[in-house]
Amino acid sequence: MKIAIIGTGYVGLVTGTCLSELGHHVIAFDHDQAKIAALKKGQVPIYEPGLNGMIHRMVEAKRLYFSTDIEAYIHEVSATIVAVGTPSKCDGSADLSYVEVAIKRIAPLVREGSIIINKSTVPVGTAFKTSQWINDCLKAKGKKQGTVHAVSNPEFLREGAAVEDFLNPDRVIIGVSSDEAFKIARDIYAPFAAKGVPIIKTNTQTAELIKYAANAYLATRLSFINEMSDLCEKTEADIRTLSTAIGLDKRIGPHFLRPGPGYGGSCFPKDTRALLDTAKQYKQDMSIVRSSVESNDLRKANLLERVKQKWGALSGLRISLFGLTFKADTDDVRETPSFDMIKNLHHENVEMSVFDPQGADNFKIMLKNFKFESPLLHYSKDMSECLKGSDGLIILTEWAQFSTLLPEDVKTHMRHARIFDFRNILDEKIFLEAGIEYQGIGY
Ligand code: UDX
Repeated sequence: MKIAIIGTGYVGLVTGTCLSELGHHVIAFDHDQAKIAALKKGQVPIYEPGLNGMIHRMVEAKRLYFSTDIEAYIHEVSATIVAVGTPSKCDGSADLSYVEVAIKRIAPLVREGSIIINKSTVPVGTAFKTSQWINDCLKAKGKKQGTVHAVSNPEFLREGAAVEDFLNPDRVIIGVSSDEAFKIARDIYAPFAAKGVPIIKTNTQTAELIKYAANAYLATRLSFINEMSDLCEKTEADIRTLSTAIGLDKRIGPHFLRPGPGYGGSCFPKDTRALLDTAKQYKQDMSIVRSSVESNDLRKANLLERVKQKWGALSGLRISLFGLTFKADTDDVRETPSFDMIKNLHHENVEMSVFDPQGADNFKIMLKNFKFESPLLHYSKDMSECLKGSDGLIILTEWAQFSTLLPEDVKTHMRHARIFDFRNILDEKIFLEAGIEYQGIGY
């Protein structure tokens, strides 16, 4: 099938590339000319395992194209997937302006009988608005209304595992208001249906809420396990055993039970806030989601306090920080706990050396956008450089390479050999045996 993707961000680029891998012909549009020019030259703007190679293969196979020229191609496709950003507004609600601009631009151009799929995470009721925008555009062009259908088809991709997640979905959700629209959307995912992946047909409101429900549930689960982890610390219990033990209960399952510095990223913080905003509009109190958001915000704000409780005052010292991204295997730094930590270290007048395998460039851009500058912040090219002359190492992201750290590295490079590991990725025993102060979380 010929498919268009609007937006070549994380979701759009992964979705478009993987759909071409499934055998479709995909044209991916973005209004950012520099980005499209780079993609045409084979330069991939994001770090996502497996994506780079797949893009090259698909471009070579002539199943994946990049363009800024929507007008020239979009009339050829049976489905247009909108994958543009829906950032949080100041009040927490989702900003739909990019979605609206995209839909209004394409609606007059697409073929009669085709579908416009919303992949962006959008509040319940957006498909109705989308239909309205489409029909207004069709009417303005003198075309028949109701001939282009809005479909809600949320994604569940984890950054860092997005390609794998796309190609091995747990389920595909298709929210529609007509059988014709469902047929086209289902055909896109026919290779998954053939493998037995559940394809769930539902109305657009349910599809839209499924995405928020999944993310809010997982975020709540994380706030819960983080609070359990704190209680373990106070009671000499061990979160590592506790997580394993409750995860073995089939009703609970093993995933999303690792405590950490608090969740971040482009989805959980934004989507939980947007869900609360939706609930407010419908005059419903979602106290559980609200508490989990508050709990997470507080956790991130208090990260440095926890370190200081252990290590005492840090002013004037040099601290190393491993990890700038919100989790491993991504270059995404949105809502990363490292930002909270660095801001607080800066305010305490602490010299910082930081290292991240992929996130430094985006982190610098984020600091610029937030107009945050610190002469105390130094970027290192590797772990050893980051540790030099340091009075303590704080680990905030669970990059696999951090777990290769050896006691010798710590002893050779650091002035004061002590580690605060907010991801429990190091083997505590070997560091303690080597005489290094080591602090994990939750035990
Ligand atoms: C999430 C959802 O998983 C995905 O389905 C949705 O489409 C987008 O949001 P993502 O934000 O990429 O994906 O990351 P994910 O792997 O889900 O982790 C989210 C946050 O939870 C990260 O900050 C991560 O560090 C944290 N986390 C996750 C934990 O602290 N402990 C865990 O056990 C799991």
